[in-house]
Amino acid sequence: MSKNVEDCLATIRARAGAEPVRLGLILGSGLGHLAGAVEGVAIPYADLPGFPHVGVSGHNPNLVIGDLEGVRVAVFGAREHYYENGNPSAMRLPLTVLQALGATALLATNAAGSLRPDIRPGDLMLLNDHINFSGLNPLIGEKTDARFVPMTTAHDADLRQALKSSAAAEGVALPEGVYAWYSGPSFETPAEIRAIKILGGDAVGMSTVPEVILARFLGLRVAAISTITNMAAGMSDEQISHEHTKAMAPLGAAKLERVLRHFLRSLR
Ligand code: HPA
Repeated sequence: MSKNVEDCLATIRARAGAEPVRLGLILGSGLGHLAGAVEGVAIPYADLPGFPHVGVSGHNPNLVIGDLEGVRVAVFGAREHYYENGNPSAMRLPLTVLQALGATALLATNAAGSLRPDIRPGDLMLLNDHINFSGLNPLIGEKTDARFVPMTTAHDADLRQALKSSAAAEGVALPEGVYAWYSGPSFETPAEIRAIKILGGDAVGMSTVPEVILARFLGLRVAAISTITNMAAGMSDEQISHEHTKAMAPLGAAKLERVLRHFLRSLR
Protein backbone atom coordinates (compact mmCIF):
# COMPACT_ATOMS: atom_id res chain seq x y z
CA MET A 1 0.00 0.00 0.00
CA SER A 2 1.42 3.40 -0.93
CA LYS A 3 2.35 5.94 1.72
CA ASN A 4 -0.37 8.31 0.46
CA VAL A 5 -3.05 5.63 0.79
CA GLU A 6 -1.85 4.78 4.32
CA ASP A 7 -1.87 8.45 5.30
CA CYS A 8 -5.37 8.96 3.87
CA LEU A 9 -6.66 5.92 5.78
CA ALA A 10 -5.09 7.17 9.01
CA THR A 11 -6.67 10.63 8.61
CA ILE A 12 -10.08 9.21 7.71
CA ARG A 13 -10.07 6.73 10.62
CA ALA A 14 -8.90 9.37 13.09
CA ARG A 15 -11.71 11.75 12.11
CA ALA A 16 -14.57 9.43 11.12
CA GLY A 17 -13.84 6.18 12.99
CA ALA A 18 -12.61 2.83 11.74
CA GLU A 19 -15.95 1.21 10.92
CA PRO A 20 -15.83 -0.17 7.36
CA VAL A 21 -17.63 1.64 4.58
CA ARG A 22 -20.02 -0.35 2.37
CA LEU A 23 -20.46 1.84 -0.68
CA GLY A 24 -18.74 4.73 -2.42
CA LEU A 25 -20.68 7.44 -4.17
CA ILE A 26 -19.17 9.94 -6.61
CA LEU A 27 -21.23 13.08 -7.12
CA GLY A 28 -21.31 14.72 -10.52
CA SER A 29 -21.73 18.32 -11.66
CA GLY A 30 -24.45 20.14 -9.76
CA LEU A 31 -25.00 17.18 -7.41
CA GLY A 32 -22.44 18.15 -4.78
CA HIS A 33 -25.08 19.20 -2.26
CA LEU A 34 -26.08 15.52 -1.83
CA ALA A 35 -22.98 15.16 0.33
CA GLY A 36 -24.82 17.30 2.89
CA ALA A 37 -27.48 14.60 3.25
CA VAL A 38 -24.97 12.28 4.91
CA GLU A 39 -24.74 12.27 8.70
CA GLY A 40 -21.03 12.13 9.11
CA VAL A 41 -17.69 13.82 8.86
CA ALA A 42 -16.58 15.93 5.88
CA ILE A 43 -12.87 15.77 5.17
CA PRO A 44 -11.52 18.31 2.66
CA TYR A 45 -9.59 16.70 -0.20
CA ALA A 46 -6.76 19.09 0.72
CA ASP A 47 -6.27 17.08 3.93
CA LEU A 48 -5.96 13.79 2.05
CA PRO A 49 -2.57 13.34 0.36
CA GLY A 50 -2.89 12.39 -3.29
CA PHE A 51 -6.53 13.41 -3.57
CA PRO A 52 -7.17 15.72 -6.52
CA HIS A 53 -7.23 19.49 -6.30
CA VAL A 54 -10.55 19.92 -8.05
CA GLY A 55 -11.27 23.24 -9.59
CA VAL A 56 -14.57 22.70 -11.42
CA SER A 57 -17.40 24.89 -10.18
CA GLY A 58 -20.49 22.99 -9.09
CA HIS A 59 -18.37 20.34 -7.34
CA ASN A 60 -17.73 20.07 -3.62
CA PRO A 61 -14.21 18.77 -2.88
CA ASN A 62 -14.88 16.92 0.37
CA LEU A 63 -14.90 13.24 1.22
CA VAL A 64 -17.88 12.67 3.49
CA ILE A 65 -17.85 9.51 5.58
CA GLY A 66 -21.00 8.63 7.44
CA ASP A 67 -24.48 7.18 7.35
CA LEU A 68 -27.09 7.66 4.66
CA GLU A 69 -30.31 5.72 5.30
CA GLY A 70 -28.44 3.60 7.84
CA VAL A 71 -25.69 2.49 5.46
CA ARG A 72 -22.10 3.59 5.96
CA VAL A 73 -20.99 5.36 2.80
CA ALA A 74 -18.06 7.37 1.49
CA VAL A 75 -19.25 10.25 -0.64
CA PHE A 76 -16.82 11.92 -3.03
CA GLY A 77 -18.24 15.40 -3.43
CA ALA A 78 -16.08 16.03 -6.48
CA ARG A 79 -14.01 14.18 -9.05
CA GLU A 80 -11.04 15.24 -11.10
CA HIS A 81 -11.93 15.06 -14.78
CA TYR A 82 -9.43 14.17 -17.48
CA TYR A 83 -9.87 17.62 -19.01
CA GLU A 84 -8.56 19.38 -15.87
CA ASN A 85 -4.95 18.18 -16.03
CA GLY A 86 -4.85 15.55 -18.75
CA ASN A 87 -4.64 12.75 -16.20
CA PRO A 88 -7.11 9.90 -16.82
CA SER A 89 -6.01 8.13 -13.60
CA ALA A 90 -6.59 11.10 -11.28
CA MET A 91 -9.23 9.17 -9.33
CA ARG A 92 -7.08 6.08 -8.82
CA LEU A 93 -5.89 7.03 -5.35
CA PRO A 94 -9.34 8.03 -4.03
CA LEU A 95 -10.82 4.79 -5.33
CA THR A 96 -7.94 2.77 -3.87
CA VAL A 97 -8.69 4.41 -0.51
CA LEU A 98 -12.38 3.57 -0.94
CA GLN A 99 -11.59 -0.07 -1.48
CA ALA A 100 -9.20 -0.08 1.49
CA LEU A 101 -11.99 1.37 3.66
CA GLY A 102 -13.94 -1.83 2.98
CA ALA A 103 -16.28 -0.73 0.20
CA THR A 104 -17.35 -3.41 -2.24
CA ALA A 105 -19.28 -1.19 -4.63
CA LEU A 106 -19.17 2.20 -6.30
CA LEU A 107 -22.09 4.25 -7.53
CA ALA A 108 -20.93 7.02 -9.88
CA THR A 109 -23.14 9.90 -10.94
CA ASN A 110 -22.66 12.51 -13.61
CA ALA A 111 -24.34 15.18 -15.68
CA ALA A 112 -24.76 14.25 -19.33
CA GLY A 113 -26.29 15.28 -22.62
CA SER A 114 -28.93 12.99 -24.13
CA LEU A 115 -28.87 11.59 -27.66
CA ARG A 116 -32.27 9.98 -27.21
CA PRO A 117 -35.45 11.99 -27.90
CA ASP A 118 -37.25 9.97 -25.21
CA ILE A 119 -34.68 10.87 -22.52
CA ARG A 120 -35.03 14.58 -21.74
CA PRO A 121 -33.36 17.22 -19.54
CA GLY A 122 -34.28 16.49 -15.93
CA ASP A 123 -34.47 12.73 -16.58
CA LEU A 124 -32.14 10.08 -15.20
CA MET A 125 -30.39 7.37 -17.21
CA LEU A 126 -28.85 4.21 -15.77
CA LEU A 127 -25.69 3.19 -17.60
CA ASN A 128 -25.89 -0.38 -18.86
CA ASP A 129 -22.63 -0.01 -20.77
CA HIS A 130 -20.27 2.66 -22.00
CA ILE A 131 -18.17 3.67 -24.99
CA ASN A 132 -14.69 5.02 -24.39
CA PHE A 133 -14.91 7.64 -27.15
CA SER A 134 -11.78 9.37 -25.81
CA GLY A 135 -9.52 6.37 -26.42
CA LEU A 136 -7.73 7.20 -23.15
CA ASN A 137 -7.32 4.69 -20.35
CA PRO A 138 -6.48 5.20 -16.67
CA LEU A 139 -4.58 1.90 -16.52
CA ILE A 140 -1.95 2.83 -19.10
CA GLY A 141 1.36 2.52 -17.26
CA GLU A 142 0.09 -0.09 -14.79
CA LYS A 143 2.73 -2.81 -14.90
CA THR A 144 0.94 -5.86 -13.53
CA ASP A 145 -1.25 -8.28 -15.47
CA ALA A 146 -4.16 -6.92 -13.41
CA ARG A 147 -4.27 -4.14 -16.04
CA PHE A 148 -6.09 -6.48 -18.43
CA VAL A 149 -9.46 -5.80 -16.84
CA PRO A 150 -12.46 -7.53 -18.42
CA MET A 151 -15.18 -4.96 -19.09
CA THR A 152 -17.92 -7.30 -20.35
CA THR A 153 -19.97 -6.95 -17.17
CA ALA A 154 -18.51 -3.68 -15.89
CA HIS A 155 -21.94 -2.20 -15.15
CA ASP A 156 -23.13 -4.69 -12.53
CA ALA A 157 -26.41 -6.43 -13.41
CA ASP A 158 -27.50 -6.97 -9.79
CA LEU A 159 -26.85 -3.36 -8.79
CA ARG A 160 -28.72 -2.17 -11.88
CA GLN A 161 -31.67 -4.37 -11.03
CA ALA A 162 -31.72 -3.05 -7.47
CA LEU A 163 -31.54 0.55 -8.68
CA LYS A 164 -34.34 -0.04 -11.18
CA SER A 165 -36.52 -1.58 -8.46
CA SER A 166 -35.84 1.42 -6.22
CA ALA A 167 -36.66 3.84 -9.04
CA ALA A 168 -39.91 1.99 -9.78
CA ALA A 169 -40.84 2.07 -6.09
CA GLU A 170 -40.24 5.83 -6.06
CA GLY A 171 -42.14 6.38 -9.32
CA VAL A 172 -39.00 7.66 -11.04
CA ALA A 173 -38.34 6.65 -14.66
CA LEU A 174 -34.89 5.08 -14.96
CA PRO A 175 -34.27 4.08 -18.58
CA GLU A 176 -31.03 2.25 -19.31
CA GLY A 177 -28.57 3.37 -21.94
CA VAL A 178 -25.01 3.58 -23.16
CA TYR A 179 -22.82 6.49 -22.02
CA ALA A 180 -20.04 7.78 -24.26
CA TRP A 181 -17.04 9.44 -22.63
CA TYR A 182 -15.88 12.56 -24.47
CA SER A 183 -12.66 14.13 -23.18
CA GLY A 184 -13.94 17.72 -22.97
CA PRO A 185 -13.61 20.43 -21.86
CA SER A 186 -15.11 21.77 -25.10
CA PHE A 187 -18.51 20.27 -25.79
CA GLU A 188 -19.08 17.98 -28.77
CA THR A 189 -19.84 19.14 -32.29
CA PRO A 190 -23.13 18.06 -33.88
CA ALA A 191 -21.11 15.78 -36.20
CA GLU A 192 -19.46 14.11 -33.20
CA ILE A 193 -22.87 13.58 -31.66
CA ARG A 194 -24.11 11.98 -34.90
CA ALA A 195 -21.02 9.75 -34.85
CA ILE A 196 -21.64 8.74 -31.22
CA LYS A 197 -25.26 7.98 -32.11
CA ILE A 198 -24.16 5.68 -34.95
CA LEU A 199 -21.73 3.98 -32.56
CA GLY A 200 -24.57 3.25 -30.13
CA GLY A 201 -24.32 6.03 -27.55
CA ASP A 202 -27.45 7.23 -25.73
CA ALA A 203 -25.81 9.92 -23.58
CA VAL A 204 -22.54 11.79 -23.63
CA GLY A 205 -20.41 13.27 -20.89
CA MET A 206 -16.90 14.10 -19.74
CA SER A 207 -16.42 11.71 -16.82
CA THR A 208 -17.23 8.39 -15.16
CA VAL A 209 -15.66 5.95 -17.66
CA PRO A 210 -12.15 6.27 -16.13
CA GLU A 211 -13.65 5.63 -12.69
CA VAL A 212 -15.59 2.59 -13.89
CA ILE A 213 -12.38 1.13 -15.33
CA LEU A 214 -10.41 1.90 -12.14
CA ALA A 215 -13.14 0.53 -9.89
CA ARG A 216 -13.27 -2.74 -11.85
CA PHE A 217 -9.47 -2.91 -11.65
CA LEU A 218 -9.82 -2.62 -7.86
CA GLY A 219 -12.51 -5.33 -7.74
CA LEU A 220 -15.38 -3.00 -6.86
CA ARG A 221 -18.83 -3.62 -8.31
CA VAL A 222 -20.04 -0.59 -10.24
CA ALA A 223 -23.20 1.16 -11.25
CA ALA A 224 -23.54 4.66 -12.70
CA ILE A 225 -26.42 7.06 -13.24
CA SER A 226 -26.52 10.15 -15.45
CA THR A 227 -28.68 13.17 -14.76
CA ILE A 228 -29.57 14.53 -18.16
CA THR A 229 -29.06 18.29 -18.27
CA ASN A 230 -29.46 18.96 -22.00
CA MET A 231 -30.06 17.43 -25.38
CA ALA A 232 -26.68 16.76 -27.02
CA ALA A 233 -25.20 19.19 -29.56
CA GLY A 234 -27.31 19.67 -32.66
CA MET A 235 -30.38 17.99 -31.17
CA SER A 236 -32.12 21.12 -29.93
CA ASP A 237 -31.89 24.89 -30.29
CA GLU A 238 -30.84 25.29 -26.69
CA GLN A 239 -27.32 26.66 -26.07
CA ILE A 240 -25.12 24.09 -24.32
CA SER A 241 -22.97 25.52 -21.52
CA HIS A 242 -21.54 24.63 -18.13
CA GLU A 243 -23.86 27.24 -16.57
CA HIS A 244 -26.79 25.41 -18.11
CA THR A 245 -25.48 22.07 -16.83
CA LYS A 246 -25.23 23.41 -13.29
CA ALA A 247 -28.65 25.01 -13.50
CA MET A 248 -30.34 21.84 -14.82
CA ALA A 249 -28.59 19.22 -12.67
CA PRO A 250 -30.74 19.90 -9.57
CA LEU A 251 -33.84 18.79 -11.53
CA GLY A 252 -32.49 15.29 -11.82
CA ALA A 253 -30.74 15.48 -8.45
CA ALA A 254 -34.00 15.46 -6.51
CA LYS A 255 -35.08 12.25 -8.28
CA LEU A 256 -31.63 10.75 -7.92
CA GLU A 257 -31.67 11.36 -4.18
CA ARG A 258 -34.98 9.53 -3.81
CA VAL A 259 -33.76 6.55 -5.84
CA LEU A 260 -30.51 6.48 -3.92
CA ARG A 261 -32.16 6.62 -0.50
CA HIS A 262 -34.52 3.79 -1.43
CA PHE A 263 -31.63 1.75 -2.81
CA LEU A 264 -29.62 2.27 0.39
CA ARG A 265 -32.58 1.23 2.56
CA SER A 266 -32.79 -1.97 0.51
CA LEU A 267 -29.16 -2.73 1.46
CA ARG A 268 -29.77 -2.55 5.19
N1 HPA B 1 -21.77 16.85 -23.42
C1 HPA B 1 -20.76 16.52 -22.59
N2 HPA B 1 -20.84 16.61 -21.27
C2 HPA B 1 -21.98 17.07 -20.76
C3 HPA B 1 -23.07 17.43 -21.56
C4 HPA B 1 -22.96 17.32 -22.97
O1 HPA B 1 -23.87 17.62 -23.75
N3 HPA B 1 -24.06 17.84 -20.72
C5 HPA B 1 -23.57 17.72 -19.46
N4 HPA B 1 -22.33 17.25 -19.47
